[in-house]
Amino acid sequence: MQVCKTGQELSMLRDAKRSEKKIIGFVPTMGALHKGHISLIHESISSSNITVASIFVNPTQFNNPSDLKNYPRDLQKDLELLENAGCNIVFVPSVEEMYPAIDTRVFDFDDLDKVMEGQHRPGHFNGVAQIVSKLFDAVKPHKAFFGLKDFQQVAIIKKMTEKLSYNIEIIACPIVREPDGLAMSSRNLLLENKYRELAPLIYAILKESVIKLRTDSPLNVKKWVTKMIGNEPLLELEYFDIVDRWTLKSVEQNSTKDSLIGCIAVWAGNVRLIDNIIYNY
Ligand code: PAJ
Repeated sequence: MQVCKTGQELSMLRDAKRSEKKIIGFVPTMGALHKGHISLIHESISSSNITVASIFVNPTQFNNPSDLKNYPRDLQKDLELLENAGCNIVFVPSVEEMYPAIDTRVFDFDDLDKVMEGQHRPGHFNGVAQIVSKLFDAVKPHKAFFGLKDFQQVAIIKKMTEKLSYNIEIIACPIVREPDGLAMSSRNLLLENKYRELAPLIYAILKESVIKLRTDSPLNVKKWVTKMIGNEPLLELEYFDIVDRWTLKSVEQNSTKDSLIGCIAVWAGNVRLIDNIIYNY
């Protein structure tokens, strides 16, 4: 596995692979890797000739300075995990490398960023698009792999790819969970025991909501989920919404129900957890 710290090193390797007509798969990450990230590496390996991962904690997508400061970092362990997974190239740029000057670009996501994560984390998706577009330019992949754990992020990246006319296939991969149901996340490392023990409740409630939605309206299911999280004093609901899977617009009344997703953000102490569940595939 080759580790590149500069765009220059990366571009030499990348151009060599492209001239050999290799299909390049790309997995962007912020490190503190777990099985969720590694599942994306496996997906890439299975459908590309060369897999490139990046590790970069992107400052422009953090709307909360203490979240950026506390974000877990363990480069040595990450490199080991990537190597064992069969990744070919890792790009580990510095902040100066990615942002030699302040990035003032403002993206238009046709309102996909006005709800849920976008509403509660102002500027977050603009920062995500800034870094992902820079990484796409540096890696020039044929395919890029993203986890459905960040469902809205996938929608935003697809929109950005379309608007900037990147010829890159965006592949959405399933959520990987702990055995107790908690969606894997780098932030889980920051949970104190009492919160870690409670955290699986979030997915348990989402699963239960699938059953409720068979016989009740999205509006009532939203109220029910809100009440269930509210019953637990250690958890604080930031939002739960049932939205159309494609437009991300909130849905309240019964419709065909075949393109709905429930998205949730919950504070467990000072750690923010997100999860989602797709209703009736
Ligand atoms: P990060 O949170 O490190 O996640 C990197 C990728 O791993 C994302 O596509 C995310 O959805 C996926 N992922 C995280 N947990 C997962 C899980 N439990 N199951 C499946 N996939 C999972 O998302 C980011 O970084 C950043 O916003 C980034 C795209 C790298 C831009 O900075």
